[in-house]
Amino acid sequence: MRTDTGQVFKLEDYRPNDYLIPQTNLTFRLSPEATVVTATLTVQRRDGVAAAAPLVLDGDGLTLKRVKIDGKKAKPADLLVTPDQLTILKPPARRFQLLIETELAPAGNEALMGLYRSSNVYCTQCEAEGFRRITYFLDRPDILSVYTVRIEALREEAPLLLSNGNPGDKGDMGDGWHYAVWHDPFPKPSYLFALVAGNLGEVADSFVTMSGRKVELGIYVERGKEKLAGYAMDALKRSMRWDEEAFGREYDLDVFNIVAVSDFNMGAMENKGLNIFNDKYVLADEETATDADFANIEAIIAHEYFHNWTGNRITCRDWFQLCLKEGLTVFRDHEFSADQRSRAVKRIAEVRTLRAHQFPEDQGPLAHPVRPRRYREINNFYTATVYEKGSEVVRMIRTILGADAFRGGMDLYFERHDGEAATIEDFIKVFEDASGRDLSQFALWYHQAGTPNLTVSSTHNAAAQEFTLEIEQSVPPTPSESRKRLMHIPLAFGLIGAGGKPVAFSSVEGASVENGVIHLRKRRHMVRFSGVTERPAVSLNRGFSAPVTLSVEQRADDQFFLARHDSDAFSRWQAFNTLLTDALIAAFREFLGGKQPVFATRLTELAGSIAGDETLEPAYRALALSLPGDADIAREIGKNIDPDAIHAGRQALALAIATANAEAFSGLYHRLANEAAFSPDAASAGRRALRNTLLDYLSLLPGGAALAAKHFQSATNMTDRAAALAVLAHRHHASPEANKALAAFEKTYSSDPLVMDKWFQIQASVPGPQTVETVRALTRHPAFSMANPNRVRSLIGTFSSANQTGFHRADGDGYRFFAQTVLEVEKRNPQVAARLATALRSWRSLEPGRQAKAREALLSIANAENLSADLRDIVERTLA
Ligand code: ARG
Ligand code: ZN
Repeated sequence: MRTDTGQVFKLEDYRPNDYLIPQTNLTFRLSPEATVVTATLTVQRRDGVAAAAPLVLDGDGLTLKRVKIDGKKAKPADLLVTPDQLTILKPPARRFQLLIETELAPAGNEALMGLYRSSNVYCTQCEAEGFRRITYFLDRPDILSVYTVRIEALREEAPLLLSNGNPGDKGDMGDGWHYAVWHDPFPKPSYLFALVAGNLGEVADSFVTMSGRKVELGIYVERGKEKLAGYAMDALKRSMRWDEEAFGREYDLDVFNIVAVSDFNMGAMENKGLNIFNDKYVLADEETATDADFANIEAIIAHEYFHNWTGNRITCRDWFQLCLKEGLTVFRDHEFSADQRSRAVKRIAEVRTLRAHQFPEDQGPLAHPVRPRRYREINNFYTATVYEKGSEVVRMIRTILGADAFRGGMDLYFERHDGEAATIEDFIKVFEDASGRDLSQFALWYHQAGTPNLTVSSTHNAAAQEFTLEIEQSVPPTPSESRKRLMHIPLAFGLIGAGGKPVAFSSVEGASVENGVIHLRKRRHMVRFSGVTERPAVSLNRGFSAPVTLSVEQRADDQFFLARHDSDAFSRWQAFNTLLTDALIAAFREFLGGKQPVFATRLTELAGSIAGDETLEPAYRALALSLPGDADIAREIGKNIDPDAIHAGRQALALAIATANAEAFSGLYHRLANEAAFSPDAASAGRRALRNTLLDYLSLLPGGAALAAKHFQSATNMTDRAAALAVLAHRHHASPEANKALAAFEKTYSSDPLVMDKWFQIQASVPGPQTVETVRALTRHPAFSMANPNRVRSLIGTFSSANQTGFHRADGDGYRFFAQTVLEVEKRNPQVAARLATALRSWRSLEPGRQAKAREALLSIANAENLSADLRDIVERTLA
């Protein structure tokens, strides 16, 4: 574990290194306890740098065996060596060869950064700074090098030897050893290096690119699981085609390989020509994976593939520019999924995710700009803000420019920066140049943290036929940014009249309005529409054109009207969701005041009419009917949170909706049953989603447990089975039906870790104070392991970030368990521990009792000895 030096890295301190490494040759002699890595680097001093400049290479916990400079053994006096740095004090010439030999023990590498073993497979993770755990190097993304890699291993232990680029020479070495050479002609930063060696099953296919080149495709998985890689392969080929059609981007190597491993810190990694994946995002069939798993696989396969152009061919100058590749690539994978599935449904799901993960980050102590200006540990900046808000910012550029000019800007980006390590300024410039627009105010979206709020009110003057929107923007203060500048916010809108028809206007003043978008640039705009004969209902932030919060003074009648008639599918969903949220906040207040909430009949009726509206896609109806979560409501309320009262309100509304629509829901539920054959396509998944949502409601009515038990038993796929299990465990906790189903599930899937993750997840999210006990007990379950990130996230991560009533138990036991566990995970894997620890980022919005207990837990982490840089950074910022 890297010791915390307390060093803060600052954007303004960037300067290029004195040296370049145009070529990198690596030889790996693999063995679990003592792998020898020989790096032969061609080092070149940059023009204009003084001859005496020392070469300072990054390392992280390395054991150095030998160093040669231009073929001669280096003298001790020529070097400064620590596990974390190697300095060549007097490089001999402008250009020289540096040989570095290090020795590693991949088997003991539980941090899963650098070279490690996962189920006896050697694999690597180098982003962001893992390469320095393999050899000393200029481990920074602006050092682009051409790599040639030779891998040597025992053939029996590792028949498969993979690295980046195209395959070269291979053969036997005697004594049971063999080797393979890989050469990657595209210069790349060290974080994109990868190596895999082991005994894996292969799924092979090929793809012919738009210019007619044939690319060999391989997906490598644990032997016996080849059948589970078919969907991933199909998603890969669709991604390759889509990038050609949507962005004109063609694949560039002769081979493209994907390897699935069981121990992985994140989702997946875009190493050039050799993507390495968390197996959870590769392996799927109807028996073991849910529709959500299929959708995630499709999205992540696409995401990593799209990085080949946005990330690899054009990379980042430094880690402050992370959103240059991540925000843009998320935008691209969102667009891909929208094209493959339903655009409206995809957009709603994206916004729900953004609000659930990015908004609380942006509104709490860990807030940072999409392009941060400082960090202590870069691994802690792979955040919802960099990824999801980063994607929203790219989407806004397209909204402002229009699709054609946006595509022109992207073409210019690829043309101008291919082969470079670029910045956000470079990115913005291509769109300015392609469109002739000034994006300087818009660029604040990259530089300024916080979620802007828009306060909106409207008036209609019938006599003057004038409709006025008064809109005011404000950006709340965030850590180290107390004063905010005014942003350029593209606000898509619609004026809607009787029957849902758009209301015409003859002219507009007070803001520039183009193609249904109001461009807000000042603190306050009075946007006056003339020639408006009837009072319209206003649909605001259509399609979620800007990642802002809205405080709208709107009549409830208008909100109901929009929920039925808005022609923008996203906004119609939003209108209904706002009605639900308002009702849930009111219910929370009733419970706090010791009263039972009463819900408006027209609200529960509207839920029924949405459920039964055959003109709407089933997936859309399912999304509309799934109530805002406990955490969503907490975020809307903002302070003095008592999760138990929120949850009680949510239960009450669910019951009211179920009761009011019992017959209709039941009829629809039965009509949706039994599709002939399983297909993971979006339409079939949507029907399952609607049916499972209806089951959740029906389970609240008399006979509900029996209905869910029957659903569980008769399920023919994991989507239905897991949904029924969750309904039983959450709605009928500790009932005979729930216990029986949990036991049956455990028995059937005990040897399938990815399916057992669902079993852990479902139990970790059972509402109520007793769940901390369950989760404690489950940490001792034979299928659980503190060393595997997927297990830890399923059990501990779900409990702490997706179970408001369980985790925030009033006596603080949830927090105590959490603090202990985070410290235990940290001993092996600081990165996963730091991510877990973010679950307490909103602690200041809790009611005073819980707040004090949460603070104690945070302090107990902060005061632990030898904290890693990763965890210290999160905990100190959270407490600050
Ligand atoms: N670049 C990867 C992606 O596709 C994420 C890798 C992050 N890894 C890390 N250790 N921080 O999004
Ligand atoms: Zn990415």
